[in-house]
Amino acid sequence: MSKQSKKGRAEFSSSFGVIAAAAGSAVGLGNIWKFPYITGVYGGAAFLFVYLGFILAIGLPVMLSEFIIGRKSHRNAFGAFKKLAPKSLWQYIGILGVGAAFMILAFYGVVAGWSVDYVVTALSNGFADQSPDQLAVMFTSFIESPVQPVLYQLLFMVLTGAIVMLGIKDGIERNVKVMMPVLVVIIIILNIRAVTLPGAGEGLRFLFHPDFSKLTGEGVLSALGHAFFSLSLGMGTLITYGSYIDKKNNLLNTAVKVTIADTLIAILAGVAIFPAVFAFGIEPSSGPGLVFITLPNVFQQMPGGYIFAILFFLLLTVAALTSSISILEVVVAYFHEELKLKRKIATIFATALVALLGVICSLSMGIFKDYTFYDLNFFDLLDWISANLLLPLGGLFISLFIGWKFGRKKIRAEIENGGSISELMLSGFIFLVKFIAPIAIAIVFLSGIGLLKI
Ligand code: PFF
Repeated sequence: MSKQSKKGRAEFSSSFGVIAAAAGSAVGLGNIWKFPYITGVYGGAAFLFVYLGFILAIGLPVMLSEFIIGRKSHRNAFGAFKKLAPKSLWQYIGILGVGAAFMILAFYGVVAGWSVDYVVTALSNGFADQSPDQLAVMFTSFIESPVQPVLYQLLFMVLTGAIVMLGIKDGIERNVKVMMPVLVVIIIILNIRAVTLPGAGEGLRFLFHPDFSKLTGEGVLSALGHAFFSLSLGMGTLITYGSYIDKKNNLLNTAVKVTIADTLIAILAGVAIFPAVFAFGIEPSSGPGLVFITLPNVFQQMPGGYIFAILFFLLLTVAALTSSISILEVVVAYFHEELKLKRKIATIFATALVALLGVICSLSMGIFKDYTFYDLNFFDLLDWISANLLLPLGGLFISLFIGWKFGRKKIRAEIENGGSISELMLSGFIFLVKFIAPIAIAIVFLSGIGLLKI
């Protein structure tokens, strides 16, 4: 049975459970697939430093804001604003979030499905003796095929739905408590392998030695957008998870730990990947194919590559799963609490809808390739709308809500519920959510939709 609060609402059972769930949400394809390749594309360490600045100044305060809104209201992303600011326009922030969850999970499930397929390929030693060109063709012809990637996406969505259906404690918490430690062990093994490769130093220099002349405006914008995506911010995921956190939890402490875990895993993913990429003389800026084309190439040249390939794609799949359940939970909690569907029915319904959208996403890589909107296929369109519009808008409104509407007294009360905060830190936090976060996000948003050129 799930642990229930007095009013019968489910709760996480321990603070480790809370951290594993929230860090599980944050650590995902964003850290292991996207972070290394965008760091490669935007020039390495300089990008990393800007990203770290955004994480600290904007990501962490917005995360704390989401936890405060969730725990104070004990509601889903939409219901939270309805409860805290009744009959106001604020509640539409929640609708944006639910919409974003649908879109993100649709394409997220597709990439996660590729990852499952690559576990299978790695197990059957399918990368062996393939030339770099053959590996590239293998990847493109796989993602363009109409059947296999669709089946893997559906399999992954069924897995996600099954965990969410079991509930907060017996489904989500129980699974992340096992999967997160497994993930940490795998990434540490991969790191040891990477840094002991001859020539690894060059990769580490690329990742940690900044050359700010390489930084572009676009790189800075991507760093902020990615900070949001990576920390699972801007669409109510951490409002929803926050609503299952008990009153004794120290929210500031939790937010700091989750932020550190997410950032550390992204850096460790970089450390696992770049030394290997450099050691085998491969271009670090090879884009989205870095993980699916470049790495198999690296693995098949590396001693012990067979095992490391399996471990790597297993890592990617586990990380994706602990994130996808958090995204699905946003939709399920909304269907359950607002549309009054039974939780089981809500889960089946939400999973089926997202999976269907995911099938279209997957097919848009191949047979639906020619159906485009502004040159974007359906997959890229959902990615673009969610990353450039919905997440920044959601993050903007969430920080405005906490900074301007919620009130200093209530912020203090919620943070001190299970924790403490000095006057100075509180003022610092309020300044960040009132001014810095909204202004920075507005700049990204306006440039994302092309109204501002940087
Ligand atoms: N943070 C996840 C990742 O880095 O892969 C993706 C994600 C999860 C984005 C949940 C947004 C979200 F609400």
